[in-house]
Amino acid sequence: KEEVAFMTRNPATFALRGAVCFSTDPQHLTCLEDAYLVCQNGLTVGVYPQLPEQFHGIPCEDFNNCLIVPGMNDLHLHAPQYAFHGMYMDLELLEWLNTVTFPEEARYADLNYAEKAYSIFTDDIKHSATTRASIFGTLHVDATELLMDLMEKTGLKTFIGKVNMDRNGSLALQEASAVVSAKDTVRWLEETTGKYENVKPILTPRFTPSCSDELMTRLAEIQRTYRLPVQSHLSENQGEIAWVKELCQGTSFYGEAYDQFGLFGGEQCPTIMAHCVYSSDAELSLMKERGVFIAHCPQSNTNLSSGIAPTRRYIEEGLHIGLGTDIAGGHSLSMLRAIADAIQVSKLRWRLVDDSLKPLSLEEAFYMATMGGGAFFGKVGTFAEGYEFDALILDDSKLRHPQPLTARERLERLIYLSDDSCITGKYISGNKIF
Ligand code: GUN
Ligand code: FE
Repeated sequence: KEEVAFMTRNPATFALRGAVCFSTDPQHLTCLEDAYLVCQNGLTVGVYPQLPEQFHGIPCEDFNNCLIVPGMNDLHLHAPQYAFHGMYMDLELLEWLNTVTFPEEARYADLNYAEKAYSIFTDDIKHSATTRASIFGTLHVDATELLMDLMEKTGLKTFIGKVNMDRNGSLALQEASAVVSAKDTVRWLEETTGKYENVKPILTPRFTPSCSDELMTRLAEIQRTYRLPVQSHLSENQGEIAWVKELCQGTSFYGEAYDQFGLFGGEQCPTIMAHCVYSSDAELSLMKERGVFIAHCPQSNTNLSSGIAPTRRYIEEGLHIGLGTDIAGGHSLSMLRAIADAIQVSKLRWRLVDDSLKPLSLEEAFYMATMGGGAFFGKVGTFAEGYEFDALILDDSKLRHPQPLTARERLERLIYLSDDSCITGKYISGNKIF
């Protein structure tokens, strides 16, 4: 994973002062009411109640009325779908893909449209709570390269994937064959590898129903040649799972449909699987063995009536788990919203589905948004020594209150009450984004 912590850092030494909150593990949030957060060479040195003597004289920016927290890592979203976020929400997954999503994504064959749409997306995500993300493009090479160019300029650190889909798409949105899909993927990689400081390619077979066995075989070869990470969808919806069972007669669970090609985690193949709402015991145990990251997407799972993932179980079993907005299954780009949604759906699951799995705490959901997802990007997601200096300045002064509040109370309130307009500053690897 160190290998993917690739990107340029700010060489300066400086401090930020404010109320600082960060996770140390899934159950614990450390909150300091007034502290100094020191950055050196783009990495966190430490958090101190008083600035240590050796740092006297370094530049220090005082955010005395603000909270400072680690940046948020969005493990799963679709950039092309941002154009229709908040629309067409009354469908389940497979119908939603066919009637809304595929026609919308087909528009990105037109670079003029892509430029308009992706300019809006990149501007909004730049100013959101997200510092790092793993993003789906479309199957179009040129539009995906345009997205990468635009994301590079935001300073956010992202993985971006040209989508592969050679079956069960539509006339307007499907690659002509496995050979064409693989060829386009290689062209995309040749044109982008090494071109960016902030953006890296990630192999993106859309999901099993979209990719023939021949395509998966070719993609696995490309994965090994270019040593790429992988992102896809897994066990999101009951109809989808039944379909995969039909398509892949030789497999005993959905995850095997990726694993049989070597596209399911392991040392040489860091992998994010979105959703995992209905993963079986066997699927989970293979994910644990392979170190596959789960992108939990509570808002999408609610909008598409997919279900509620047993996140408590995933945390207890020590699986890698982070949060995803899954734009535009999810309607909000805000990772603050994703934290609140993860907590809320876990409460409904506890009350209505399975009272043996206690709901998530604020600590656990905050951990998932920061450290849990951050681990996919290297040492990311907290303010421990040696971690990438990714920080958000959160201004809660517009949320009025009559009583004194602790930093933890302010953080919880911000997560529930604020949109991303409270984010007044952002640092990534020590670089000031705004
Ligand atoms: N499965 C395959 N494609 C998609 C997609 O675009 N969104 C979601 N939520 N699930 C998918
Ligand atoms: Fe998705």
